[in-house]
Amino acid sequence: MSYVPAIRQERADDTPRVRAVLEAAFAGSTEADLTDKLRAGGDLILALVAELPGSIAGYVAFPRLTLDLGDRSVPVVGLAPVGVSPSGQRQGIGSAMIRAGLGRLKDRGEGLVFVLGEPDYYRRFGFEVMAGFASPYAGPYFQTLKLVPHAPDSGTVVYPKPFADLG
Ligand SMILES: CC(C)(COP(=O)(O)OP(=O)(O)OC[C@H]1O[C@@H](n2cnc3c(N)ncnc32)[C@H](O)[C@@H]1OP(=O)(O)O)[C@@H](O)C(=O)NCCC(=O)NCCS
Repeated sequence: MSYVPAIRQERADDTPRVRAVLEAAFAGSTEADLTDKLRAGGDLILALVAELPGSIAGYVAFPRLTLDLGDRSVPVVGLAPVGVSPSGQRQGIGSAMIRAGLGRLKDRGEGLVFVLGEPDYYRRFGFEVMAGFASPYAGPYFQTLKLVPHAPDSGTVVYPKPFADLG
């Protein structure tokens, strides 16, 4: 059975519970630390939580990335990290958050979203491997979603510094 959570924008007072969700989902603090750095650096253009009565069950962040086209750069978006508390997984919460976030990005006129993750999962949202995009993460797990048909087909995707610091 799918659970339909309340998806809303992250608030400042959510931070400790967001950390807890990410630490539980990823069984470690790397993604929670990354998120704190991205948030502190103003790198997140959108961050959503999935709220259940009295708790936060999931979190998704969309950092600002840059697409280097050689003669110019254009702003694009990342999808990372996304996590759902282990007890809430496989109930539709991750999908609901991702779909809500992608809808908001499209409404804002964003053109391209990049994700690193399991193709079997991200395919359902329309992500696919597009060979034209260069990135340190390029390969079978590096996928792209075009939100507008005229978005570029190639370029080098540049991530904000907290990603590079991951090593
Ligand atoms: C990945 C994650 C965010 C998905 O959220 P979720 O709420 O559990 O997923 P949903 O309920 O929306 O979707 C469930 C579907 O996704 C599939 N799925 C979940 N994680 C998957 C994975 N890593 N690879 C492939 N499929 C996956 C399930 O099999 C299920 O498929 P079905 O709909 O065909 O039955 C969540 O499982 C999670 O936090 N995992 C640990 C952290 C993580 O790996 N984050 C993603 C890093 S890219």
